[in-house]
Amino acid sequence: MPLEIDLDVPTRHLLRADDGTALARLRLHDDDGERVAAEVSPLPGVDVGTVAAQARRDLAGARLETPHDELAHALVAGGLTLRRAATDMRHDLAVVPEPVALPTGWSLAPAGWDDDLAEGLPAAYGPTHPDGPWQPDDTAQIQAMFDRGDPVPPLLAASARVVGPDGRSAGHVLCAGPVPWTEDTCAWILNLAVAPAAQGRGLGRALLGHALRGSRAAGLPRLGLSVGCGNPARRMYDDAGFRPVSRVLTVPLPPAGHADEVTRSPVD
Ligand SMILES: CC(C)(COP(=O)(O)OP(=O)(O)OC[C@H]1O[C@@H](n2cnc3c(N)ncnc32)[C@H](O)[C@@H]1OP(=O)(O)O)[C@@H](O)C(=O)NCCC(=O)NCCS
Repeated sequence: MPLEIDLDVPTRHLLRADDGTALARLRLHDDDGERVAAEVSPLPGVDVGTVAAQARRDLAGARLETPHDELAHALVAGGLTLRRAATDMRHDLAVVPEPVALPTGWSLAPAGWDDDLAEGLPAAYGPTHPDGPWQPDDTAQIQAMFDRGDPVPPLLAASARVVGPDGRSAGHVLCAGPVPWTEDTCAWILNLAVAPAAQGRGLGRALLGHALRGSRAAGLPRLGLSVGCGNPARRMYDDAGFRPVSRVLTVPLPPAGHADEVTRSPVD
Protein backbone atom coordinates (compact mmCIF):
# COMPACT_ATOMS: atom_id res chain seq x y z
CA MET A 1 0.00 0.00 0.00
CA PRO A 2 1.70 3.23 -1.08
CA LEU A 3 2.06 6.14 1.28
CA GLU A 4 -0.58 8.73 0.66
CA ILE A 5 -1.16 12.36 1.47
CA ASP A 6 -3.14 12.75 4.69
CA LEU A 7 -6.21 14.74 3.58
CA ASP A 8 -6.77 15.96 7.16
CA VAL A 9 -3.23 17.35 7.41
CA PRO A 10 -1.93 17.97 3.85
CA THR A 11 1.72 18.40 4.90
CA ARG A 12 1.63 14.82 6.28
CA HIS A 13 1.52 11.37 4.73
CA LEU A 14 -0.26 8.32 6.07
CA LEU A 15 1.41 4.95 6.32
CA ARG A 16 -1.23 2.28 5.70
CA ALA A 17 -1.35 -1.48 6.23
CA ASP A 18 -1.88 -3.66 3.15
CA ASP A 19 -5.61 -3.83 3.98
CA GLY A 20 -5.78 -0.01 3.97
CA THR A 21 -5.84 0.54 7.75
CA ALA A 22 -4.13 3.83 8.62
CA LEU A 23 -1.13 3.08 10.86
CA ALA A 24 0.92 6.24 11.31
CA ARG A 25 1.31 9.88 10.27
CA LEU A 26 4.65 11.17 9.01
CA ARG A 27 6.24 14.03 7.08
CA LEU A 28 8.33 13.14 4.05
CA HIS A 29 11.21 15.35 2.96
CA ASP A 30 14.60 15.16 1.34
CA ASP A 31 17.82 15.97 3.20
CA ASP A 32 20.71 16.45 0.78
CA GLY A 33 19.54 13.52 -1.37
CA GLU A 34 18.54 11.31 1.57
CA ARG A 35 14.82 10.48 1.90
CA VAL A 36 13.61 11.34 5.39
CA ALA A 37 10.42 10.06 7.02
CA ALA A 38 10.16 12.57 9.86
CA GLU A 39 7.90 12.74 12.91
CA VAL A 40 6.64 9.19 12.33
CA SER A 41 3.78 8.91 14.84
CA PRO A 42 1.72 5.74 15.22
CA LEU A 43 -2.02 6.46 15.35
CA PRO A 44 -3.81 5.76 18.67
CA GLY A 45 -4.55 2.09 19.29
CA VAL A 46 -2.35 0.80 16.47
CA ASP A 47 0.09 -2.02 17.23
CA VAL A 48 3.59 -0.53 17.13
CA GLY A 49 5.15 -3.77 15.82
CA THR A 50 2.82 -3.56 12.80
CA VAL A 51 3.89 0.05 12.17
CA ALA A 52 7.57 -0.97 12.39
CA ALA A 53 7.10 -3.83 9.90
CA GLN A 54 5.11 -1.69 7.43
CA ALA A 55 7.62 1.18 7.71
CA ARG A 56 10.45 -1.21 6.88
CA ARG A 57 8.60 -2.22 3.71
CA ASP A 58 7.10 1.07 2.49
CA LEU A 59 9.88 3.39 3.67
CA ALA A 60 12.84 1.09 2.89
CA GLY A 61 16.06 3.08 2.46
CA ALA A 62 14.71 6.18 4.21
CA ARG A 63 16.00 7.76 7.42
CA LEU A 64 13.16 7.29 9.90
CA GLU A 65 12.78 9.89 12.64
CA THR A 66 10.23 9.42 15.40
CA PRO A 67 9.36 11.01 18.75
CA HIS A 68 7.87 7.65 19.75
CA ASP A 69 10.10 5.53 22.05
CA GLU A 70 8.12 2.33 21.51
CA LEU A 71 8.41 2.54 17.72
CA ALA A 72 12.16 3.09 17.92
CA HIS A 73 12.45 0.15 20.34
CA ALA A 74 10.44 -2.10 17.98
CA LEU A 75 12.77 -1.22 15.08
CA VAL A 76 15.87 -1.82 17.19
CA ALA A 77 14.43 -5.11 18.47
CA GLY A 78 14.10 -6.06 14.79
CA GLY A 79 17.84 -5.67 14.29
CA LEU A 80 18.12 -2.01 13.23
CA THR A 81 20.35 0.61 14.83
CA LEU A 82 19.38 3.75 16.73
CA ARG A 83 21.71 6.27 15.06
CA ARG A 84 20.89 9.23 17.28
CA ALA A 85 18.62 10.30 20.14
CA ALA A 86 18.21 14.07 20.22
CA THR A 87 15.95 16.94 21.22
CA ASP A 88 14.78 19.60 18.77
CA MET A 89 14.65 23.02 20.41
CA ARG A 90 13.40 26.47 19.42
CA HIS A 91 14.01 30.04 20.61
CA ASP A 92 11.35 32.61 19.69
CA LEU A 93 13.91 35.48 19.63
CA ALA A 94 11.62 37.76 21.69
CA VAL A 95 14.42 38.41 24.20
CA VAL A 96 17.98 37.85 23.03
CA PRO A 97 21.16 38.31 25.11
CA GLU A 98 23.18 41.51 24.83
CA PRO A 99 26.73 41.04 23.49
CA VAL A 100 29.16 40.06 26.27
CA ALA A 101 32.78 41.12 26.63
CA LEU A 102 35.05 38.28 25.57
CA PRO A 103 38.25 37.46 27.51
CA THR A 104 41.14 39.81 26.67
CA GLY A 105 42.53 39.21 23.20
CA TRP A 106 39.51 37.18 21.98
CA SER A 107 37.04 38.45 19.37
CA LEU A 108 34.31 37.35 17.01
CA ALA A 109 35.16 37.34 13.29
CA PRO A 110 33.17 36.71 10.09
CA ALA A 111 32.20 33.09 9.51
CA GLY A 112 34.32 30.89 7.29
CA TRP A 113 36.17 27.60 7.24
CA ASP A 114 39.93 27.36 7.79
CA ASP A 115 42.67 24.93 8.85
CA ASP A 116 42.36 25.88 12.54
CA LEU A 117 38.68 24.92 12.58
CA ALA A 118 39.46 21.78 10.57
CA GLU A 119 41.80 20.79 13.41
CA GLY A 120 39.91 22.11 16.45
CA LEU A 121 36.40 20.85 15.67
CA PRO A 122 37.29 17.15 15.32
CA ALA A 123 38.99 17.49 18.71
CA ALA A 124 35.79 19.02 20.19
CA TYR A 125 33.76 16.06 18.89
CA GLY A 126 36.00 13.35 20.34
CA PRO A 127 35.35 9.58 20.33
CA THR A 128 33.02 9.72 23.37
CA HIS A 129 30.92 12.68 22.19
CA PRO A 130 27.15 11.92 22.51
CA ASP A 131 26.73 12.63 18.78
CA GLY A 132 29.68 10.44 17.85
CA PRO A 133 33.09 11.57 16.64
CA TRP A 134 33.60 14.19 13.94
CA GLN A 135 33.69 12.59 10.47
CA PRO A 136 35.58 13.75 7.36
CA ASP A 137 32.13 14.08 5.77
CA ASP A 138 31.24 16.74 8.38
CA THR A 139 34.14 18.85 7.14
CA ALA A 140 33.11 18.26 3.51
CA GLN A 141 29.53 19.32 4.26
CA ILE A 142 30.58 22.57 5.91
CA GLN A 143 32.96 23.35 3.04
CA ALA A 144 30.14 22.71 0.55
CA MET A 145 27.95 25.22 2.39
CA PHE A 146 30.60 27.92 2.15
CA ASP A 147 31.75 27.03 -1.38
CA ARG A 148 28.45 26.32 -3.12
CA GLY A 149 25.61 27.07 -0.69
CA ASP A 150 24.94 23.32 -0.70
CA PRO A 151 22.49 22.19 0.63
CA VAL A 152 21.82 25.63 2.14
CA PRO A 153 24.00 28.73 2.27
CA PRO A 154 25.28 29.94 5.65
CA LEU A 155 23.22 32.67 7.31
CA LEU A 156 26.19 34.99 7.65
CA ALA A 157 24.48 37.47 10.01
CA ALA A 158 24.03 34.69 12.58
CA SER A 159 27.31 32.81 12.01
CA ALA A 160 30.79 33.70 13.32
CA ARG A 161 34.21 32.39 14.21
CA VAL A 162 35.84 33.11 17.53
CA VAL A 163 39.47 34.13 17.22
CA GLY A 164 42.14 33.96 19.94
CA PRO A 165 44.99 36.31 20.89
CA ASP A 166 47.17 34.40 18.40
CA GLY A 167 44.79 35.36 15.57
CA ARG A 168 43.70 31.76 15.02
CA SER A 169 40.13 30.43 14.92
CA ALA A 170 39.21 28.46 18.05
CA GLY A 171 35.55 27.77 17.33
CA HIS A 172 32.51 28.83 15.39
CA VAL A 173 28.76 28.95 15.16
CA LEU A 174 27.35 28.09 11.76
CA CYS A 175 23.70 28.93 11.05
CA ALA A 176 21.44 28.76 8.01
CA GLY A 177 17.94 30.01 7.48
CA PRO A 178 15.21 29.76 6.67
CA VAL A 179 15.89 26.03 6.42
CA PRO A 180 13.86 23.60 4.28
CA TRP A 181 13.70 20.72 6.78
CA THR A 182 11.40 22.33 9.37
CA GLU A 183 7.66 22.95 9.00
CA ASP A 184 7.96 26.25 10.86
CA THR A 185 10.05 29.11 9.42
CA CYS A 186 13.29 29.30 11.33
CA ALA A 187 17.00 29.86 11.31
CA TRP A 188 18.98 26.79 12.41
CA ILE A 189 22.25 26.21 14.24
CA LEU A 190 24.00 23.57 12.16
CA ASN A 191 27.13 23.56 14.27
CA LEU A 192 28.40 25.26 17.42
CA ALA A 193 31.78 24.13 18.71
CA VAL A 194 34.85 25.42 20.50
CA ALA A 195 38.22 23.63 20.40
CA PRO A 196 38.90 21.84 23.73
CA ALA A 197 41.86 24.08 24.67
CA ALA A 198 39.62 27.17 24.47
CA GLN A 199 36.52 25.76 26.21
CA GLY A 200 35.15 26.88 29.57
CA ARG A 201 35.82 30.63 29.23
CA GLY A 202 32.47 31.80 27.88
CA LEU A 203 33.18 31.54 24.14
CA GLY A 204 30.38 29.02 23.48
CA ARG A 205 27.81 31.26 25.17
CA ALA A 206 29.12 34.29 23.24
CA LEU A 207 28.77 32.44 19.92
CA LEU A 208 25.25 31.33 20.87
CA GLY A 209 24.30 34.93 21.72
CA HIS A 210 25.63 36.05 18.34
CA ALA A 211 23.49 33.41 16.60
CA LEU A 212 20.38 34.59 18.46
CA ARG A 213 20.95 38.28 17.69
CA GLY A 214 21.94 37.59 14.08
CA SER A 215 18.87 35.42 13.42
CA ARG A 216 16.61 38.15 14.73
CA ALA A 217 18.45 40.84 12.76
CA ALA A 218 18.01 38.72 9.61
CA GLY A 219 14.24 38.80 10.16
CA LEU A 220 13.79 35.13 11.07
CA PRO A 221 10.99 34.48 13.59
CA ARG A 222 12.83 31.78 15.57
CA LEU A 223 16.09 29.86 15.88
CA GLY A 224 16.15 26.06 16.09
CA LEU A 225 18.72 23.39 16.82
CA SER A 226 19.05 19.71 17.58
CA VAL A 227 21.05 18.60 20.62
CA GLY A 228 22.01 14.98 21.25
CA CYS A 229 20.67 13.44 24.48
CA GLY A 230 23.41 13.50 27.11
CA ASN A 231 25.28 16.46 25.58
CA PRO A 232 26.16 18.90 28.42
CA ALA A 233 25.66 21.74 25.91
CA ARG A 234 21.92 21.27 26.57
CA ARG A 235 22.31 23.31 29.78
CA MET A 236 23.61 26.25 27.78
CA TYR A 237 20.57 26.12 25.48
CA ASP A 238 18.11 25.86 28.38
CA ASP A 239 19.78 28.83 30.09
CA ALA A 240 19.61 30.89 26.88
CA GLY A 241 15.83 30.40 26.63
CA PHE A 242 15.52 27.58 24.09
CA ARG A 243 12.53 25.29 24.70
CA PRO A 244 12.36 21.62 23.76
CA VAL A 245 9.77 20.94 21.04
CA SER A 246 10.25 17.24 20.29
CA ARG A 247 12.41 14.22 20.82
CA VAL A 248 13.93 12.83 17.63
CA LEU A 249 14.98 9.17 17.56
CA THR A 250 16.71 8.37 14.27
CA VAL A 251 16.72 4.84 12.85
CA PRO A 252 17.95 4.40 9.27
CA LEU A 253 15.81 1.83 7.43
CA PRO A 254 17.73 -0.57 5.19
CA PRO A 255 17.04 -0.54 1.45
CA ALA A 256 14.45 -3.05 0.20
CA GLY A 257 16.77 -5.95 -0.75
CA HIS A 258 18.67 -5.68 2.52
CA ALA A 259 15.46 -5.66 4.60
CA ASP A 260 14.46 -8.99 3.03
CA GLU A 261 17.80 -10.48 3.96
CA VAL A 262 17.52 -9.39 7.59
CA THR A 263 14.06 -10.87 8.06
CA ARG A 264 14.59 -14.07 6.05
CA SER A 265 14.68 -17.18 8.26
CA PRO A 266 17.77 -19.43 8.05
CA VAL A 267 15.74 -22.33 6.55
CA ASP A 268 14.41 -20.28 3.57
C1 LIG B 1 29.22 23.25 23.73
C2 LIG B 1 30.53 24.08 23.62
C3 LIG B 1 30.47 24.83 22.30
C4 LIG B 1 30.57 25.07 24.76
O1 LIG B 1 31.71 25.88 24.55
P1 LIG B 1 32.45 26.63 25.75
O2 LIG B 1 33.26 27.71 25.17
O3 LIG B 1 33.11 25.64 26.62
O4 LIG B 1 31.17 27.22 26.50
P2 LIG B 1 31.14 28.27 27.69
O5 LIG B 1 32.44 28.38 28.37
O6 LIG B 1 30.51 29.50 27.15
O7 LIG B 1 30.13 27.54 28.67
C5 LIG B 1 28.78 27.50 28.36
C6 LIG B 1 28.06 26.36 29.02
O8 LIG B 1 28.22 25.20 28.27
C7 LIG B 1 27.78 24.10 29.10
N1 LIG B 1 28.69 23.04 28.75
C8 LIG B 1 28.90 22.70 27.47
N2 LIG B 1 29.74 21.68 27.38
C9 LIG B 1 30.09 21.34 28.61
C10 LIG B 1 30.93 20.33 29.14
N3 LIG B 1 31.60 19.47 28.36
N4 LIG B 1 31.06 20.27 30.45
C11 LIG B 1 30.41 21.12 31.22
N5 LIG B 1 29.60 22.10 30.78
C12 LIG B 1 29.44 22.20 29.48
C13 LIG B 1 27.77 24.61 30.51
O9 LIG B 1 26.42 24.84 30.88
C14 LIG B 1 28.49 25.94 30.40
O10 LIG B 1 28.03 26.89 31.28
P3 LIG B 1 28.56 27.03 32.79
O11 LIG B 1 30.05 26.94 32.73
O12 LIG B 1 28.06 28.35 33.19
O13 LIG B 1 27.94 25.88 33.51
C15 LIG B 1 31.78 23.16 23.72
O14 LIG B 1 31.71 22.41 24.91
C16 LIG B 1 31.92 22.21 22.55
O15 LIG B 1 32.49 22.56 21.52
N6 LIG B 1 31.44 20.97 22.70
C17 LIG B 1 31.58 19.97 21.64
C18 LIG B 1 30.69 20.27 20.46
C19 LIG B 1 29.23 20.28 20.84
O16 LIG B 1 28.74 19.36 21.48
N7 LIG B 1 28.51 21.34 20.41
C20 LIG B 1 27.10 21.48 20.65
C21 LIG B 1 26.35 20.72 19.62
S1 LIG B 1 24.59 20.85 19.88
